[in-house]
Amino acid sequence: MTVSDESPFRGKSVMVVGGSRGIGAAIVASFAAAGATVRFTYAGSRDAAEALATSTGSIAIHGDAADRDHLLASVREAGVLDVFVYNAGLLESGDPLTLDPDAVDRLIDVNVRGPYHAFVEAARRMADGGRIIAIGSVHGDRMPFSGFTAYGMSKSALQGLARGLARDFGPRGITVNVVQPGPTDTDMNPADGPLVQRMHDEMAIRRHGTAEEVASLVRYLASPPARGITGAMHTIDGGFGA
Ligand SMILES: NC(=O)c1ccc[n+]([C@@H]2O[C@H](COP(=O)([O-])OP(=O)(O)OC[C@H]3O[C@@H](n4cnc5c(N)ncnc54)[C@H](OP(=O)(O)O)[C@@H]3O)[C@@H](O)[C@H]2O)c1
Repeated sequence: MTVSDESPFRGKSVMVVGGSRGIGAAIVASFAAAGATVRFTYAGSRDAAEALATSTGSIAIHGDAADRDHLLASVREAGVLDVFVYNAGLLESGDPLTLDPDAVDRLIDVNVRGPYHAFVEAARRMADGGRIIAIGSVHGDRMPFSGFTAYGMSKSALQGLARGLARDFGPRGITVNVVQPGPTDTDMNPADGPLVQRMHDEMAIRRHGTAEEVASLVRYLASPPARGITGAMHTIDGGFGA
């Protein structure tokens, strides 16, 4: 694939935590197609990660985002970053009275502790004007279903994280934003899954979004015209939260 000489991402350094499948893989592919040097981490999906690395020319790094030492080491190894995206996320659903507390703690490790520590570490060596983006969820704003408390809590936490870090890093021109998808067709939430009708009933545009649509929004937030957008939540949910 040829990349336009005018691509703002040509030669830029991008890192995606959790990039082997779904929305993360679409983000990796989008930045790689725009000429960036892209690294991404993955935990369980080695075959998918290696195939994506080969097809996009990106670099796959094996490691669990819940392992803080490994996560921070992989951020440090990336060197000076222009764009840092934390996409990895776990979903645990069920009655909070019976949900396994260890599973909830792991969800918090991956969905909340990981982004906090990784964003701080990325900012240490990020170029001025760099971009930090968390993949949250419309459930950070709105929860019309029972059984998703821990997940919703973790995505609401990203909002406070982005608002705070936007202030902390704003003097360096670094922006910090959250992209909040609604139902998006991935392994986590397949467009033919059991809850589809209930989800579509909540939507103005009654279809699952695509990972590529989410990746386009991420790429816009990382682009030069978005330099004044920070500390903000960007919902792409087919009107689920309207
Ligand atoms: N799909 C939706 O409807 C939807 C809606 C709102 C928000 N989101 C959010 O969007 C993000 C991506 O979701 P998705 O639908 O693409 O999910 P997915 O299909 O389950 O893919 C999750 C990705 O995150 C990686 N990952 C998970 N745990 C990890 C860990 N401990 N360490 C490193 N990587 C890890 C996975 O890699 P491995 O397989 O290699 O472990 C995979 O690449 C999540 O934060 C999710 O909460 C999704």
